[in-house]
Amino acid sequence: MTHAHITTWVIALILFFIAINVNKKGNEKGFKILQMILRVMYLLILATGGILLSSIAHISLLYILKAVVGLWILVLFELILLRTAKKQPVTVLWIQFVVAFLLVLYLGLKLPLGFHLFQ
Ligand code: HEM
Repeated sequence: MTHAHITTWVIALILFFIAINVNKKGNEKGFKILQMILRVMYLLILATGGILLSSIAHISLLYILKAVVGLWILVLFELILLRTAKKQPVTVLWIQFVVAFLLVLYLGLKLPLGFHLFQ
């Protein structure tokens, strides 16, 4: 399940950057379609993350933090796209995005399931 989880967020990340580019090029229809597909990806990320959580017997604070930061990234995906489309400022959201992404990677790879880059 960790592989399914990683696959879903990697696809979402790629689609997110494609959506930003498509928006820059002024292709509104393409942007809307990508936004819709991304919303389905959020559900898949939530589902795979939820299944991982439910497979753990003793959920520690770090797991809860991992899930909360994961959720925060999904909110940021959505907010950054909405505000970029409306040409509103997004610098603060991007800073949060980088911090949250580094944190979620660290926590995900430190916690016991799947790969362990940080012990
Ligand atoms: C874009 C958002 C997310 C990213 C980038 C992300 C990233 C990761 C990464 C890198 C791992 C480690 C996988 C491994 O070690 O093989 C992981 C595991 C996990 N994720 Fe996420 N995740 C996200 C969203 C979520 C959400 C929303 C939830 C909760 C509903 C969640 C719950 C979990 C759980 C429970 C694990 C297992 C932790 C462990 O290794 O023991 N994730 N995630």
